[in-house]
Amino acid sequence: FGVTETELAALQPAVVQAQKEVLEADAKAYSSGKVPAEKDPLDHGFLDLPDRLLAEYQEKRAESELGRIMTAAAKLREKVDRVVVLGIGGSYMGAKALMDACCQPYYNELTRAERGGYPRIYFEGNNIDNDASQGLLHLLGTQQGTTPETRWGIVVISKSGETLETAVAFRQFTAALVKSCGGDLAKAAELIIPVTGVTGRLADLSLALGCKPEVTFPVPDGVGGRFSILSAVGLVPAALMGLDILRLLQGASLMTKHFREAKPDENLVLQFVSVCHLMETRRMANLRILCMWSKALECAGLWYDQLLAESLGKRLLGATPLTTVNTRDLHSRAQQHQQGRRDKLFVNVIVDKWRFDALPVGKSDFDQDKLNDIAGKTMPELMTAAIQGTNEAYKSDGRPTIDLHLPTTDVTVMGQYFQWLMIANVVEGRLLGINPYGQPGVQMYKGAMKRILGR
Ligand code: PA5
Repeated sequence: FGVTETELAALQPAVVQAQKEVLEADAKAYSSGKVPAEKDPLDHGFLDLPDRLLAEYQEKRAESELGRIMTAAAKLREKVDRVVVLGIGGSYMGAKALMDACCQPYYNELTRAERGGYPRIYFEGNNIDNDASQGLLHLLGTQQGTTPETRWGIVVISKSGETLETAVAFRQFTAALVKSCGGDLAKAAELIIPVTGVTGRLADLSLALGCKPEVTFPVPDGVGGRFSILSAVGLVPAALMGLDILRLLQGASLMTKHFREAKPDENLVLQFVSVCHLMETRRMANLRILCMWSKALECAGLWYDQLLAESLGKRLLGATPLTTVNTRDLHSRAQQHQQGRRDKLFVNVIVDKWRFDALPVGKSDFDQDKLNDIAGKTMPELMTAAIQGTNEAYKSDGRPTIDLHLPTTDVTVMGQYFQWLMIANVVEGRLLGINPYGQPGVQMYKGAMKRILGR
């Protein structure tokens, strides 16, 4: 059921051509109608963004955007114990993915010292869920005004500056912040970092509130929302979590170099795209199931769900992504994966090195659970057995799988992961003849909602 070497070889010229076009950021391909120009092809700006930011940092250090981000994060971190990151879609999911992958599990539960002095991070403005917002406001409210350490701040992220969910949350959380600062707006403004387009409602509002221009960061023109994780959109929250943003960008830069230079049959981007494209177009494997073999990667999977769905789900095309976390979801989905419709490609994302030392199954005098036969085996060993066993089972029924190994889930690897999938997404779009940028379909519900609200 999987793809053959012959099919891969036959597809190679088209894939190499797509690679060439992506590297040349071939605006002509869009204007010629080969790829519909749903949005300005300059959205291609994500490709060289890590290199541009790193080069600017080398030259200007503290004056560069990265330098300013580091300074702003360091200053805010001194003042607060909690930061609420407001944003949705491409202005949210990447930062959450980074936190889950790179910070300790239960990071927010650790003491300040255990967190390395970095603040607790919460995500809101990604819904209009009354109870979620109220729950967080209550949590913050109970902390207010006790000691400086329990003060909190806001990072508000919206490229357009007009997204309802984020805008509503910003209004509500800003009001709460001003209150917790004893009504002192100037004091509250010092605890807010906006990330937004150079112009727009959020840019205007930030200025009016008194946020300083040196701690207001741009979402660069030409970098679309779901391609913006390696801009200030992801970098500001990452710096606040204590992650090394230089290493994050260096990881991404390594992946760009690999995409540019590696031969087609050794090129991780081209290989992945080729198999996905063939499975979708020749085998009707319209479901792309991302099997994350680590809880730390669930949001990294959801980030890809958005990237694929929103970029390529157009003109009745594009695979439907679904993130699963194994072994958890084997207990809810494996039945269908093993014996359901033959419409799935399974992409295993496997972590080779865990954060903590391997925890063994202990030997016990109480063997009623009959586990003493595996006493001494470690959790990573059990996980490896689960991965092998699942792959074997799928193979026995001709269920196609791809294995991707991440050496760890540190920032460098995550930088590679994000850049790898963003580039792959654009190349895949080329093969399908779909412009990955823009999301005209999303406007439909927004328009209807606006009408219903009488706006
Ligand atoms: O990929 C996209 O463009 C979207 O998912 C946006 O990121 C999302 O709608 C949020 O937009 P904004 O940053 O303008 O608030």
